[in-house]
Amino acid sequence: MSKVTSTAPGKLMVFGEHAVVYGYPCIVTSINKYITVEVEKTKLESDIFHTPGVPDTSFIRNALNLFREKYNTEDPVSITTQSDLGNYGLGSSAAVTVALVKALAKLYDIRLSKKELFKLSYETILGVQKTASGFDVAASVFGGTILFDGKSKKVKKITSEKLPLLAVYSGKKASTVSMIDRVKRLRDRKPRFVEEIFLEIARIVNEAKQAIENCDWKRVGKLMSQNHELLVRLGVSTKKLDDLVMRLGKAGALGTKLSGAGGGDCVIVIVPKEINNTGFKIIDI
Ligand code: PMV
Repeated sequence: MSKVTSTAPGKLMVFGEHAVVYGYPCIVTSINKYITVEVEKTKLESDIFHTPGVPDTSFIRNALNLFREKYNTEDPVSITTQSDLGNYGLGSSAAVTVALVKALAKLYDIRLSKKELFKLSYETILGVQKTASGFDVAASVFGGTILFDGKSKKVKKITSEKLPLLAVYSGKKASTVSMIDRVKRLRDRKPRFVEEIFLEIARIVNEAKQAIENCDWKRVGKLMSQNHELLVRLGVSTKKLDDLVMRLGKAGALGTKLSGAGGGDCVIVIVPKEINNTGFKIIDI
């Protein structure tokens, strides 16, 4: 096969960030924005990357190495990416990894199950990032809105319907690695305090699963706001994020929270109808 193309969607964390790193469940949704990866064998001696929209190529390099090791391939390849995800923390590292592994499997005519695709992609992310739950990989592999178990890595589909969710960019990039590290240091210092927050987050996740299944958006919104408060207590929110949460609440949101590691990136909002107030950078998902 000469040239192959694969795509994978980005994600938004809906409930349960940070706790999922320590084995608790979370809810993540895939979004209607994708990364496309095109791969072909090249006659040149080394690989060629043309990867606009992918800020960090270490995920691509690591996926390529792991794939070659596992499937005994060594042809130099040319890799080209195209991304709709922007630089808003919408899961570009996981999406590019999943799309690339899928494309490589196609190139060599290897049938990968979703489980195998998850495994190799998650291994890639862990190799670069060291600590990661794999929730973003699961969203890119399985799509829809899923319950992801941080311990067993098992996935349960909650719904394939689009959630009435908006994402608003805070204007600042977040560093996932440094926020994970911040929570780790707090947990080392105050294990009981952090464990109690994680347990409360896990309770919210389980309640939110039911509320989403029942399309009870008022309840989902309430639970989101509670989850945000717990993230504030974990020390991962910022003044800017809290300010956005407050303003969106005043503008009529049913619930708002930061989404992802914190420190920046996006807040998500459950809306009864579009919030059209000027001043919000709403990302179409
Ligand atoms: O910053 P993001 O969008 O990659 O989300 C990180 C979520 C964490 O729970 C903090 C980390 C993880 O791997 O689950």
